[in-house]
Amino acid sequence: MNLNTLDNLNLEGKVVFLRCDLNVPLDKKGKVSDTTKIKRHKITIDELINKKAKIIIISHLGRPNGKVNKDLSLNIISDEFAKIMNIREITVLPFCGTEVIKSVTQEKKKGTITFMENIRFYPEEENNDETLAKELAEIGDIYVNDAFSVSHRKHLSTYGLSKVLPSYAGRSLQLELTMLNKINTGINKPIMSIIGGSKISTKIQLLISLVKKVDYLVIGGAMANTFLLEKGFNIGASLVERDKTHIAKEVLMTAEKNNCEILLPKDVVVSKDLTDLDNIKNIDIKDIEDNEAIFDIGEKSIEEISNTIAICKTIFWNGPLGVYETPPFDNSTNTIGRTLALLTKGNIVTSVVGGGDTVSALNNADLTGGFSYVSIAGGALVEWLEGKSLPGLNFLVK
Ligand code: 3PG
Repeated sequence: MNLNTLDNLNLEGKVVFLRCDLNVPLDKKGKVSDTTKIKRHKITIDELINKKAKIIIISHLGRPNGKVNKDLSLNIISDEFAKIMNIREITVLPFCGTEVIKSVTQEKKKGTITFMENIRFYPEEENNDETLAKELAEIGDIYVNDAFSVSHRKHLSTYGLSKVLPSYAGRSLQLELTMLNKINTGINKPIMSIIGGSKISTKIQLLISLVKKVDYLVIGGAMANTFLLEKGFNIGASLVERDKTHIAKEVLMTAEKNNCEILLPKDVVVSKDLTDLDNIKNIDIKDIEDNEAIFDIGEKSIEEISNTIAICKTIFWNGPLGVYETPPFDNSTNTIGRTLALLTKGNIVTSVVGGGDTVSALNNADLTGGFSYVSIAGGALVEWLEGKSLPGLNFLVK
């Protein structure tokens, strides 16, 4: 993919709309709990500041559904952002109309940063509203997309604005695509995919396309419960999509046809609920009681996955395997993360880890430095791996 990049662009005094992905995880108090996503944009921000552009940052945080929600204001992340970028001050605009954005931008000096408020406060964002896109285009000179991880969304800030302004790829987006292309073309077999997360319904296409490509598919997280239900196990009070067992059946059948071995949990860690840490048990999947819920996969399953990783050459991982936010239910994610990091270090496997939750889980265990490549993209990476074209890249291509 031949992208328009920031190479040789004279941006002095130019107003640049920069689409970032600052959709960081927040802790229970609503504070930033992981800054990986912010750090990824530093390379682009530094370059734009050096080129003396007037930068207007656009990002979403969470899913406020077109309504102002102070718990999702970009003010929450602006201090962390300023610290990481080594900038004394940034202006966060309130939720406002384009005339305010215009007048503030005119007053701004070269090489400064202004944040628009959470773009998903604007109902026009997800509707990809052409009128607002055109009004913004009158304020800006160019558009830079530095958010591969949101490029699967056909929204105003990823698609509409890019359509009406000269558009370029930011350095972080460029790097992400270069690394992912490299891994996707030079892929060594046997290949294993590890897919976790809570909902099978959000990953159906991915699962179907993976079982046609990979040798082993590990399924963990609450998604595995739908498969266990389909196979006739009692999963007690576990989180499950009961009406999606037909998807599990289709994935299992497609895997069999394509000689892909599916690894489902053989044992699991259960409790009555997430706060009941005194009654945690590691049990066989045949022994789950009606009032017990699965919160992680068990030791035998971890061992089976680790042994299979050791005979593979390429591993792609998306989605935590247990409720990683609540120890000790982070055990399988951390243990498998450690095995993978060790084998990557020994040049035995190439490992690609993707998705905000997965990266956050592995950051908690201080493991993200150990993989061949860590992508912050979740949904976008999944669609890209499925071979879909991403709307956010549409106008960046030469
Ligand atoms: C992500 O976290 O994957 C991106 O920020 C996209 O967020 P979204 O799924 O809410 O569009």
